[in-house]
Parts: sequence; C-alpha cells; structure tokens
Amino acid sequence: MVKANGFDAGSGKFSVHDWITYCKSHYKKIGIRTSDSIFEIGCGSGAFLFLLYKKQHVIAGIDYSPELIKLANKFMPKANIKENDAISFSQDQKYDVIVSHGVFLYFESLQYAEEVIKRMVNTSVKKIAILDICDFDKKEIYHEVRIRDFIEDGYTEDEYWKRYEGLDHLFYTKDFFRNLGNQHNLNTEIYDQNIENYEYYGNSKLRFNVIYTK
Ligand SMILES: C[S@@+](CC[C@H](N)C(=O)[O-])C[C@H]1O[C@@H](n2cnc3c(N)ncnc32)[C@H](O)[C@@H]1O
Repeated sequence: MVKANGFDAGSGKFSVHDWITYCKSHYKKIGIRTSDSIFEIGCGSGAFLFLLYKKQHVIAGIDYSPELIKLANKFMPKANIKENDAISFSQDQKYDVIVSHGVFLYFESLQYAEEVIKRMVNTSVKKIAILDICDFDKKEIYHEVRIRDFIEDGYTEDEYWKRYEGLDHLFYTKDFFRNLGNQHNLNTEIYDQNIENYEYYGNSKLRFNVIYTK
C-alpha cells in the first residue's frame, strides 16, 4: 500500500515502521481527535489514511487513479472512496479534517491548487492539512540533493535521470499558503518536513507542511 503510493522510492531505507511513525507524527501535529471524520484529496491506495481507518475513524477520499482506488477499496472496504479529480469532488458532505498528503506537487498550476484549497475549505469543519509540499525556496537544489542521495544508495546519476526524466513537480512558496489562509480567515501553521527516516532522496529537506484551522 505504501509502495503503491510511491513512498518507498525503491531505496529500502523507508520501512513500514518508519511510515507508521511518520503518519502518526502528522496526525498528532494536525490534532486529529478520536471522533474526527477524515477526507483525503488524492488518497491513492490509502496509505496515509489506513491507520486512521483501523482506529475506526469515518474515512473518505478521492483520487483520479482507478487502479489505486480499487486498492483503497480493497484495504478499507467501509471507507467512502471515489474516483474523482481534486478539482471536481462533491462538496455536499462535510468532514472534520480534510487532508492531502504528497499530492499538491502533481498539480498543473497554482491556480488549480488555489481552487482545490477553496473546495477543501468549503468541505472541512475544523482542519485542513496540506502535507509534503515542494518548497519553492529549495527548487534550485532539488535535483542536486536527490541525485546525491540516489548515488549514496548505490545508483548512478544516469539511472536517476532515467527514472525521473520529465519529473515536473510544482513548487510553492510559504507565502502562497499564508495569503490563502488570510483570504479564507484561517489560522495558518507551516512547518518544515524534518521527520527522522523520511530522508529518502533528500525529499524531507525539500518539503514543508501546512495546517489550517478554522
Ligand atoms: C504520492 S501519491 C500519495 C497518495 C496518498 N495521499 C498517500 O499519502 O498515501 C499521489 C496521489 O495523488 C493523486 N493525484 C495527483 N493529482 C491528482 C488530482 N489532480 N486529482 C486527484 N488525484 C490526484 C495520484 O493519483 C496519487 O494517488
């Protein structure tokens, strides 16, 4: 499940135990309560939601990949997981916490991201957590850091480019999120990704997280 969502990156460094520790630290930081319902934008196979599902939270999510949705429904049969695009999911049902982990980097533009955030605000009762965002301030060193870690793992730079050629992640400034927080009257908390063992290919050093509270 973790692998299907692209979080081992083939390095073997990031174990399931690390993933559990990592997810729990985000849940704590967000302040998820036992009775909270959770909705994820871009849930994939459900790796970020699974522990919450096991703890009996009401879980829902959308993703535009039919293959990953199929997996998510297999792992979390009681969750409400639908195939949909981040910009067009239904806003009828409200959830306490709306999350999106490791997804905003795939969006086509900042305008698109802005529209998704508007929809997240409309759908959430208490919190919105946008996690694992590519930091614009670190854009220059993005490939440099990732290649260095890749080589440390015994691969070559050629192999890196073969795997990641055309990789076109969207980078965000922290001000982008602060401004939107102000616009929507939200309390904004931003913290850098510096979680132990989440250092695969340097990603942790290059990303940050945003928590909005209503
Ligand atoms: C790296 S995976 C993260 C999956 C999950 N959030 C997790 O942390 O376990 C990124 C996911 O975002 C989904 N995705 C990317 N852009 C999307 C969009 N515009 N609408 C819906 N899903 C999207 C992909 O299909 C993929 O499942």
